[in-house]
Amino acid sequence: MIIDFRLLIEDHGTSTIKNQKSTIKNRQSKMASLVSHPDEVRVVSKRFGQGATSIDRYLELDGYKAVQKALGMQPDAIVNEVKNSGLRGRGGAGFNTGLKWSFVPKQSPKPKYVLCNGDESEPGTCKDRLIFEHDPHAVIEGVVIAGLAVGSHTGYIYIRGEYRYLSEIMQKALKDAYARGFLGKNILGSGYDFDVYWHGGAGAYEVGEESALMESLEGKRGIPRVRPPFPAVVGLWGGPTVINNAETLASVPPIILGGAEWYAAIGPPKNGGTRLFCLSGNLARPGVYELPMGYNLKKMIYEVGGGIPNSRKLKAVVPGGSSTPCLTADEVDVSMDFDSLMKAGSMLGSGGVVVLDDSTCIVKFALRTMKFYQHESCGWCIPCREGTDWLKKTLTRFHAGGGLKKDIDNIQYLAENMLGRTFCPLGDAAAMPTIAFVKKFRKEFEDHLEGKPCQFEKEAAIEQLPVMA
Ligand SMILES: Cc1cc2nc3c(=O)[nH]c(=O)nc-3n(C[C@H](O)[C@H](O)[C@H](O)COP(=O)(O)O)c2cc1C
Ligand code: SF4
Repeated sequence: MIIDFRLLIEDHGTSTIKNQKSTIKNRQSKMASLVSHPDEVRVVSKRFGQGATSIDRYLELDGYKAVQKALGMQPDAIVNEVKNSGLRGRGGAGFNTGLKWSFVPKQSPKPKYVLCNGDESEPGTCKDRLIFEHDPHAVIEGVVIAGLAVGSHTGYIYIRGEYRYLSEIMQKALKDAYARGFLGKNILGSGYDFDVYWHGGAGAYEVGEESALMESLEGKRGIPRVRPPFPAVVGLWGGPTVINNAETLASVPPIILGGAEWYAAIGPPKNGGTRLFCLSGNLARPGVYELPMGYNLKKMIYEVGGGIPNSRKLKAVVPGGSSTPCLTADEVDVSMDFDSLMKAGSMLGSGGVVVLDDSTCIVKFALRTMKFYQHESCGWCIPCREGTDWLKKTLTRFHAGGGLKKDIDNIQYLAENMLGRTFCPLGDAAAMPTIAFVKKFRKEFEDHLEGKPCQFEKEAAIEQLPVMA
């Protein structure tokens, strides 16, 4: 599946709801076109491009069969099936989904809730939007099954502000699901009531963080909550709450239908199933590809993504969204699963694989990344608010040629002092890639010192020179 990556760049750090309105029409006309690769294993994406936004088509393609099956299962059996499938959260942290559901108390004086996190704002990540666009009922079905598992009667689908152009699709899907009895009172004659609401965010990376999302949903400023207590016990409006990423929830119906064993066997141990990998950057065939968990990164770049164009060489890869530490060209022979990437000193994160060729200036890339985090910091805690701001200022001066030798250590020192000292993981998300850039590409930072012009800018300038006929 390919996507127009220019839209991703526009989305991050620059968009406001005001300037989005003018581009919504534009975006609708640029909906993602789909590509594929023979190594793909289509579980979540199997209905992409099949017209499954229509409920009739969704039903023809096995839609809502999983919810019918789940209605005949005990809640604990649903939880165990998902737990044993090895499904781990696709939002970034990779926590076992069934295990998370098992933390929700069985009895609760307050209503329980299921939240679908469709905020998808991590740069490099563009997969949930495809699920909403091509298979909205799969998300709804996943939310209902999660509700049956934990004894909830209400679900919310929270979609990133900039994804407003998907609202029509989601709202129609919900209306159709109500009309056919998959939502509302007494779903499918089971005696079980379940309502699902859609909610559009206002466009902030921070509200993707689960507790900030709940604040936002409650109509407050989207800043994180103090934890513990964790959402499974005290979440939305103080009720026990399950919150999962859209891809995580869309993976649940196939697990219920195909069984835990089948799903677990697709990936390596403890990393069940498939993953929608978002391949972007300097690649011949960028796109969103559904591959088995544990797929080799080198193969992903050179075979699935078609390799590096223009006879360029690979320089680095950001393997799981902008917050994950980069890997050098020598480190890409690695299995793309949560545990292997952790061992390699990085993270699988949200599945956003950004490939950089040797024409990329790492200092500039570090600066672009920090501009994003500085812009998105909610400003609540000092290490993040001040840290991202100073890092942005220092990197800007550094890249512009005003760098001092001590800046290199200062950048690293500043980032290291943010790690683990912020109120939510956004501070870590800004610090971790920065530390990796300095450690792995120190020479490139040194090459920018004492007013030396950026070598890569020079290259870009040469490329732009007119060619004499
Ligand atoms: C700053 C920040 C932004 C986040 N953004 C998202 C997001 O856009 N989508 C998402 O699913 N999870 C996001 N997360 C992770 C969520 O807090 C949470 O772990 C996730 O929704 C849980 O779902 P999962 O277990 O299915 O991954 C973010 C976390 C942080 C710290
Ligand atoms: S780490 Fe950053 S985003 Fe998170 S609470 Fe602190 S200031 Fe806000």
